[in-house]
Amino acid sequence: MTMKALMLSGGRGTRLRPLTYTGAKQLVPVVNKPILWYGIEQIVAAGITDIGIVISPETGDAIRSATGDGTQFGAHITYILQASPDGLAHAVKIAQPFLGDAPFLMYLGDNLIRDELSSFVDEFVERSLDALILLKQVPNPTAFGVAVLNPEGQVTRLVEKPKNPPSDLALVGVYLFSPQVHRVIAQLRPSPRGELEITDAIQELVNTGGNVTAQSLQGWWLDTGKKDDLLAANQIILDETLSHEISGTVDDATQISGRVRIGSGSTIINSTIRGPVVIGDNCHIENCFVGSYSSIANGVKMVDVEMDHSVVLEDAVIEKLHQRIVDSLIGRRAQLLHSPKRPKASRFMIGDDCVIELT
Ligand code: TTP
Repeated sequence: MTMKALMLSGGRGTRLRPLTYTGAKQLVPVVNKPILWYGIEQIVAAGITDIGIVISPETGDAIRSATGDGTQFGAHITYILQASPDGLAHAVKIAQPFLGDAPFLMYLGDNLIRDELSSFVDEFVERSLDALILLKQVPNPTAFGVAVLNPEGQVTRLVEKPKNPPSDLALVGVYLFSPQVHRVIAQLRPSPRGELEITDAIQELVNTGGNVTAQSLQGWWLDTGKKDDLLAANQIILDETLSHEISGTVDDATQISGRVRIGSGSTIINSTIRGPVVIGDNCHIENCFVGSYSSIANGVKMVDVEMDHSVVLEDAVIEKLHQRIVDSLIGRRAQLLHSPKRPKASRFMIGDDCVIELT
């Protein structure tokens, strides 16, 4: 039976507040492309084109209007509304009408992995597994779902965020399941944190004699649910994929070095751009230093700014700052302005959960 895919793009996104008050974390861009789209492209590259995307009432419309019916990816996308974020296994449960009896690949919409998916899909199909999970060694297993394997590589035990980790093998946010998983999810009870846990479902597959195997991930894995992980993802993707491509208008006083992509309609005046850097369409950059590993989305205006290793979202305005901006994530339409009249004072209007470090 043809495989389907289930992308999880609901959730609360508490770790990426305040951005997630007004937008979906899966649409936050990495190198000016929504995180979610990297996963969709990988799924399609592995030959799976029937994709369900689980969305929440708060951010579902934004995800739907940005991502569309799948035509742009060569896929067919069905949106599945999850009324509240009651866990990864709950998302599978409500997606059952879409999944039917098909085996499926599940992908967490805020995760990015380097490895191609096709070898995992092939192994899952060839060995008729009930579940294939992907694992990666991590230095801090207490923050993850962790797996214990027997010498044959079969999964014997899974623990969610263990206080005393039995191994350092964390579950990566990509899983393959046979329809057997629906049988165990139907029996699951909510965990102490009130969610239907996918780790409990996989454990139940193991307990009832299912063939559950693990594969180690070779390349990197990033969970972009937090600011620093998102900046790390931006750095890696800039390093690995950015091509040098200059559109827009760049004046003679501007110096560009390294790989830099500048979109159409953008104007760069008297600035230094040191790649890898991506600047979107219709930006205005004047008297700026834009250092390595910065991604600037469409419609951004920056005047008299020095910046390194930062991500700026659409239509933000940054002007006349006398300190370099580093390791920063600046939201859509945010304004970061310096008043020339009172250089020693700062005037703020800062939303809930913003973090501002004046270093
Ligand atoms: P998480 O990052 O584990 O959860 P979250 O989005 O609620 O974030 P936070 O911990 O910061 O509050 O979720 C992983 C992915 O799965 C993410 O893309 C959101 C999605 N998800 C759902 O679609 N439904 C759910 O019920 C849950 C818990 C997550």
